[in-house]
Amino acid sequence: MMKKLALRIYSLFVFCGMFGYLSAQHNIENRIENMLSKMSLRQKIGQMNQVNARKPDERLYQQIRDGEVGSILNAEDPALLNQLQKIAVDESRSGIPLVFARDVIHGFKTIFPIPLGQAASFNPQIVEESSRIAAIEASENGIRWTFAPMMDISRDPRWGRIAESFGEDTYLSEAMSVAMVKGFQGNDLSNPSSIAACAKHFIGYGAAEGGRDYNISNIPERQLRNIYLPPFEAAIKDADCATIMTSFNSNNGIPPSANKFLLTDLLRNEWKFDGVIVSDWASIGIMTTQGFCEDKKDAARKAANAGMEIDMVSECFINNLEQLVKDGSVSEKTIDDAVKNILRLKYRLGLFDRPYTDLNLQSKKYAINHLDAAKKAAEESFVLLKNKNDILPLGNNIKTVAIIGPMADAPHDQMGTWCFDGEKEYTQTPLNALKKQFGKNVNFIYEQTLAFSRDKDTSKFVKAVEAAKKSDAVLLFIGEESILSGEAHSLADLNLVGAQSELISELSKTSKPIITIVMAGRPLTIEKEISLSDAVLYAWHPGTMGGPAIADVLFGKSCPGGKLPVTFPRYVGQIPLYYNYERIGRPANKKEVLLNDIPLEAKQSSLGNTSYYLDAGFDALFAFGYGLSYTTFEYSNLTLSKKNLSKDDVLRINVTLKNTGKREGCEVVQLYTSDITASIAPPVKELKDFKRVTLKPGEQQIVTFDLPIQKLAFWNYEMDKVVESGKFDVMVGGNSVDLLKMRFTVD
Ligand code: GLC
Repeated sequence: MMKKLALRIYSLFVFCGMFGYLSAQHNIENRIENMLSKMSLRQKIGQMNQVNARKPDERLYQQIRDGEVGSILNAEDPALLNQLQKIAVDESRSGIPLVFARDVIHGFKTIFPIPLGQAASFNPQIVEESSRIAAIEASENGIRWTFAPMMDISRDPRWGRIAESFGEDTYLSEAMSVAMVKGFQGNDLSNPSSIAACAKHFIGYGAAEGGRDYNISNIPERQLRNIYLPPFEAAIKDADCATIMTSFNSNNGIPPSANKFLLTDLLRNEWKFDGVIVSDWASIGIMTTQGFCEDKKDAARKAANAGMEIDMVSECFINNLEQLVKDGSVSEKTIDDAVKNILRLKYRLGLFDRPYTDLNLQSKKYAINHLDAAKKAAEESFVLLKNKNDILPLGNNIKTVAIIGPMADAPHDQMGTWCFDGEKEYTQTPLNALKKQFGKNVNFIYEQTLAFSRDKDTSKFVKAVEAAKKSDAVLLFIGEESILSGEAHSLADLNLVGAQSELISELSKTSKPIITIVMAGRPLTIEKEISLSDAVLYAWHPGTMGGPAIADVLFGKSCPGGKLPVTFPRYVGQIPLYYNYERIGRPANKKEVLLNDIPLEAKQSSLGNTSYYLDAGFDALFAFGYGLSYTTFEYSNLTLSKKNLSKDDVLRINVTLKNTGKREGCEVVQLYTSDITASIAPPVKELKDFKRVTLKPGEQQIVTFDLPIQKLAFWNYEMDKVVESGKFDVMVGGNSVDLLKMRFTVD
């Protein structure tokens, strides 16, 4: 009886909740229709115009008064935002509030690790927490829209924006993108601390040819759907991402800002996206440079008719759409549809009810819990690449430590790319943290030696070597300045810049243990430097709290557990090099003959006919998913619930994980599948799930994955998304290479 009553009450709550939600949505739609009916064509087009307010002036104020601005980017002072908002609400005819946008990519004031580093944590929860904090800090200033997460699948470290991505894998990027959208948007977009997220860059930007930014890409639809689009679909369908940004690269000759298939057929009609589509910076206008449009009027026409809704700073829309509607080149319905989505975004953000920012809020910027979260995110982002003889963590036998290198005390560069509002004065560097946290028991000798990563002045090498000779261990901080990473900063050579490599060579002659900490926004080709190091910790650009995080990891107060979200090539010539490559007819077989072993006058086919480089072999320096710990883990007893499954089954996979070392550690257990035969050449393997497991020394645990067979679906030869019958392998391990494997079939 009680159960029935409880069920009835629960059902009533659910019904009321749903009714409440639906009636609120219905109310918003009514308000939108009502607002739209009162707007002139010019005012409607004004909502589609986004203006850069880096230096606001009377022209901007008048544009707002005239209703010719719908959103503003790059204003971040709260008093200024309120001033601009007051003009929009009180002095324009429509009174429609502005929405203020900013690139809050990995933190606003408290800077978190770059997204590539956050991906290395394989911890969506920490990514959600990081972006939640970023939203709290940014929204204090009135910023309610961020242009993040960037979810471009990135397989080319020559591309500077790999720093901003979640790496090369679709599944990992999906998981991180959903987490970041949820963090930014919170549980209720109308909450003043919530900010609209933006899934970018739509689409294929990470495949820019040659890893050269803004270059073209040529991705066929099937590969778009199997590799590049899933994170965007997940961001929309699983996290209700409010906006989408199109990308600079033309794909198959068509700029996404005017690609009707992408913006209307796919986003609107197939995915039922009801948010807002914004162009990238002037990407509508530059379609003239791309030779795709005759002039800005033509660009406005093609973009609007494809489904583009907000023109970021190119002024193509505001200067041309009115005439285009009048001469029938663009329908007013097209404009109305766009403006409805823009108004819906503003209603959902609660801007009509609360357009202003409360300037009396007690600021939470740099709050201790924010800094603690940034430290934890940094710790979990670090990837331990080498640890010879368990030199790390540094023990009590270490009394004198030489801290050397240009990245030991680089507060600006430590924050990484895309941190417009981060303040280097708040950055806690490794040098300061090591002294503060461990200076009582350890004598630190600091020699910067190189003033910055590109510095070629070797005159201070002598002092560095002297410091090393006096020490029990060397902490060498190298990598790349933040300006070498990020947008428009592609590199053709991934070796260490400046004289950093020469420095480690000189230090290695002292025979002192060298622990190398790399701060960079991308994989670097550092095979030589790794061979000269006793331990290597890849710290990415770790953000405000990178110093305390590195110090605690080096001295064992916390344990590194990050895994690589991107393959590390040995040579730049191997790129693109990624783990989930499609099967080929003559794969490398590890019996390849390398350059120096080729006999003189060798016969034409004597070296075998497999896919590798004579001078580089085939293998990566480090594989996707690779990362060491301060302990060791053993995988055993891989078992499957069934060996023959139907397409609606769920396969349960168990594996025993044991901590076989002497310290507690966290392992990212990775689940891969491999389709043996398919209607299109299948990838050799694909990440399908992962779990973080913390075990004490000697402890073991059965780790269970439940894999719905529908997760094996892919866009096949007929361009249907289906699971195909056949043989599959399931693999489990701590990286994408060392895996336990078992076979199963799908009927
Ligand atoms: C830039 C970037 C984009 C960013 C936008 C606004 O060019 O491509 O990611 O959000 O402009 O700053």
